[in-house]
Amino acid sequence: MNFEAAKKRSLVLREQLDKWNYEYYVNDAPSVSDQEYDRAMQELIAIEQQYSELITIDSPTQRVSGQISEKFNKYVHNTPMLSLANAFNYDDLIHFDEQIKELTGLSEVEYTCELKIDGLSISLVYENHLLIMGATRGDGVIGEDVTVNIKKIKSVPLRIDHPNLTVRGEVYLSLEEFNKINDERIKLGEPEFANPRNAAAGTLRQLDSTIVAKRNLNAFLYYYVNALGDEIQNQYDSLQRLEQLKFKTNPEYRYCSNIAAVWAYIQEYEPKRHQLGYEIDGIVIKVNNLSLYNRIGYTAKNPKWAIAYKFPAEVVVTKLLNIFPSVGRTGRITYNAVLEPVRIAGTIVRAATLHNADFITERDIRIGDDVQVKKAGDIIPEVINYVVERRQQKAKKWQEATHCPECQSLLERVTGEVDQYCINSVCPKKITRGLEHYCSRNAMNIEGVSEKNIERLYKIGYLKSFSDLYQLSQYRAEIIQLENFGEKSFENMITSINNSKQNSLERLLFGLGIRHVGQKTAKLLARQFKTIAELVAMNIEQLSVINDVGPIVAASVVDYFAIVANQQEIALLQQQGINMTYLVTNQTLSQKFENYRFVITGVLSKPREYFKELIESYGGQTSDSVSAKTTYLLAGSDAGSKLVKAQKLNVKIINEEEFNNLLIKEE
Ligand code: IVH
Repeated sequence: MNFEAAKKRSLVLREQLDKWNYEYYVNDAPSVSDQEYDRAMQELIAIEQQYSELITIDSPTQRVSGQISEKFNKYVHNTPMLSLANAFNYDDLIHFDEQIKELTGLSEVEYTCELKIDGLSISLVYENHLLIMGATRGDGVIGEDVTVNIKKIKSVPLRIDHPNLTVRGEVYLSLEEFNKINDERIKLGEPEFANPRNAAAGTLRQLDSTIVAKRNLNAFLYYYVNALGDEIQNQYDSLQRLEQLKFKTNPEYRYCSNIAAVWAYIQEYEPKRHQLGYEIDGIVIKVNNLSLYNRIGYTAKNPKWAIAYKFPAEVVVTKLLNIFPSVGRTGRITYNAVLEPVRIAGTIVRAATLHNADFITERDIRIGDDVQVKKAGDIIPEVINYVVERRQQKAKKWQEATHCPECQSLLERVTGEVDQYCINSVCPKKITRGLEHYCSRNAMNIEGVSEKNIERLYKIGYLKSFSDLYQLSQYRAEIIQLENFGEKSFENMITSINNSKQNSLERLLFGLGIRHVGQKTAKLLARQFKTIAELVAMNIEQLSVINDVGPIVAASVVDYFAIVANQQEIALLQQQGINMTYLVTNQTLSQKFENYRFVITGVLSKPREYFKELIESYGGQTSDSVSAKTTYLLAGSDAGSKLVKAQKLNVKIINEEEFNNLLIKEE
């Protein structure tokens, strides 16, 4: 075939394939057989192989080609991806409606109700009609560029009849696909995914796009960014417009003329939720009229014009087969239930937490009992109680553990505290869990050292402490011989370990696993004391004066650094070049807002969280209420009671422009 003929034929094939694709994946109404579809696809692939200049990013062949990425690039969202506030009952909903009425002055508000799909949100960016970006939400401001994987979702159009558009929605896996994937994983001896959302998230962040192609992810789109700019007046119409543009929307959405109709919709769908074929965790209620959105406004994280009604967690009854204790990184003992497998909200549950010994004793839960189990969102399933009427004579009274299940040392329990602890500082499980925590994403962010690998390296004796991580490279020859531990994964692990040396102090402080020092406290401490040497020199009183650091946290920090083994470990880390100072993200940032307290109110051009981060990165503080100590009230439009209070207290009030000027002003 000559080039001209090939070009013509490829256009015909593309059009056919796009049409069939849409019929099959969006409308669920195929008009041709799979064979016919495959034949056309093969023909197009062959033509494009011969004339590679015919391949463009919107060719249907681009959905099937595989690619292995090293890692995903970061992507900064043009408009932040916000999340929603939750409502849990009728009263919350009425409160939401009343707030909208108050803010808009309307006596009745119209809404659009949609199912809350339990997946993960994505943003699709089209430029010059073409899909150029598919990104995850990330922290709402910065996500990851997963375009190659998004293209594997067949219902997502690669080209649309609109020049420039951003749309958002939810990537999900149907229950059928989810179960198929897990069945396959069981066969291969791989761990199962806990629920469809985890499986979808794991798939979308897969670096090997051929795996993604096999998994049949799907997406419902529900958000037309800047719909008003395209003269779309309400949410309902924006969904219809998305459909005209051939996006897949969830078909169950409904216009509701007032909050009573919303409540009826919720009640209709609650029992229906398990018949849908995909998981939902609630209903999203959005004010229908888009032109009201700016007036209604935003809180730091959420729009105020929408709310997510969360369904109550489903409770099921199953048999309690066994109870066993396990030990965590702090040495705390948790009790776990082995259950007769049971389906809860679409997934099979085999284990649940029983919390601590008191929990079981107080309820007198026994092995062999029928127990109620619930699972809420991504929280671990938990046993609530046993079913009294079903207790059988043979139900065995349960015995509290006296010794650590891992190292057999005697457990301790501080009088008045519920938890038992293994206080053996060299308990293998405490050490490996501690290492896992040290490497975790929010701590030192070391990749490639999974729970399994840590345990293996620990057992062999290469890895017993944090500082050992930085010595692993000397065991290269031995480690790459281990099963499933090739050269490449070894190199990646070492690179990631080395990179962690440059982390700012707060990551290390969090990673050390000091009791009561969570991520936020670690940051506060790092920011305040700048170096670990400074921090170590503090006593309880000096620590307690910091905002948000109470006496319990202070005592815990002091205790930690008083232990000789901890001092030695820190010295070893230091010797190996681990940074122990606080690095402001942007080195040139000054601390110009030091000792300044801001309160933010009203509608601003960006979410409040944005301003909060900015203020904090310049050393300032933010608070929710105006007081005599407030330095500035940053007020957007429609500021209410805080503005009045600031005026009364003579607090300086600035608008966004003045705030920006403060930022750029020379010191
Ligand atoms: S609207 C600014 N609509 O729920 C408004 N979200 O808890 C953005 N979700 O992050 C969200 N189905 O991932 C919206 N029909 C729906 C949704 C939905 C699921 C997810 C989404 C969001 C989260 C909020």
